[in-house]
Amino acid sequence: MSADRSTVDEPSLSGRVALVTGGARGIGLAVSRRLHALGASVVVADCGVSIRGDEPEPTVAEGVARELGVRAVPFTSNLTDPEGAANAVAAAVTHFGGLDLVVNNAAILRDGFIFKAKAADWDAVLRTNLSAPFYVLAAATPHLREQAKSGRAPGRIVNIGSSTGLYGNLGQSAYASAKAGLLGLTRVVAMDMARSGVTCNTVVPFAATRVTEAIQPANPAQAEYKARALKLPARFVADLVAFLCSAEAGDVSGQLLGVRGREIFLFSQPRPVATWCAPDSGSGTPPFAGAFKEHFASRFTDMRTDLEAFNTEPVI
Ligand SMILES: NC(=O)c1ccc[n+]([C@@H]2O[C@H](COP(=O)([O-])OP(=O)(O)OC[C@H]3O[C@@H](n4cnc5c(N)ncnc54)[C@H](O)[C@@H]3O)[C@@H](O)[C@H]2O)c1
Repeated sequence: MSADRSTVDEPSLSGRVALVTGGARGIGLAVSRRLHALGASVVVADCGVSIRGDEPEPTVAEGVARELGVRAVPFTSNLTDPEGAANAVAAAVTHFGGLDLVVNNAAILRDGFIFKAKAADWDAVLRTNLSAPFYVLAAATPHLREQAKSGRAPGRIVNIGSSTGLYGNLGQSAYASAKAGLLGLTRVVAMDMARSGVTCNTVVPFAATRVTEAIQPANPAQAEYKARALKLPARFVADLVAFLCSAEAGDVSGQLLGVRGREIFLFSQPRPVATWCAPDSGSGTPPFAGAFKEHFASRFTDMRTDLEAFNTEPVI
């Protein structure tokens, strides 16, 4: 362990049971390893699909579970239907006697400019990146509630978002929409589960994985971004997720965090930044355009993509 990392608190997750979707590759793999190393039992829920969501390969999750050894099992069915998601939750309960930590990390990419986008790609991305987390949480939260009532330490939920869902990026209408939707899901789950002491947060990661490798730079700045992003080990994401899964993070819920190497971001969430009471159209033709711009133009959100906003040298 390097000198820098020796200061990181080590939360114990001993006795906790985790379900990590997409837990066999990239960021999910780092999370599976980290939670397991901290003592959690882990269901590595990953059907081993291509980045587009095709060609399932169960041996990927099976290999990771074998590598982790005791306290790890693979779950290799697809999570894009309620039954698959319910079975993943059942696997945790059957193998390890409960479920405490849910990390919704699995996602796919099918990019295309909106004027060329295909409905089938939209459906597949929304189903994997937004509906599947909902299915998993709809199946998991009854257990989390019951366990909390019976005195078990409250559960933790982490949804893995994307800066694309906050800033947007060219050609990523489906991916950005799904990831933006995940924020709404996070907020409501945090509210619905607050009485049970269960937390729910979104983590926006930056790490060298095949998602990063798949970036097709549209210009030199994006090429520079990609080169920088490829320097970022996924273990930093896993460290933040592990903290959010710990007992110490019981008062962190409904939040939107980012992690880029050693930089951790707390993001604002959209709230009104300016207010203008428009004239009532019933009282004649209002001078809408001039007053609208006078009140709002200086506060408009800029149109930078996430690749432009985070094109800084990583701190590792
Ligand atoms: N890498 C980055 O910098 C970055 C940036 C922003 C967001 N993210 C997000 O982080 C998460 C992990 O990304 P990654 O780069 O590690 O991806 P990855 O493609 O390396 O791994 C994703 C895993 O999810 C699995 N998966 C996909 N669909 C599944 C399904 N329906 N059921 C079960 N498993 C399924 C895949 O088999 C794969 O192993 C994703 O949510 C992604 O959107 C990553």
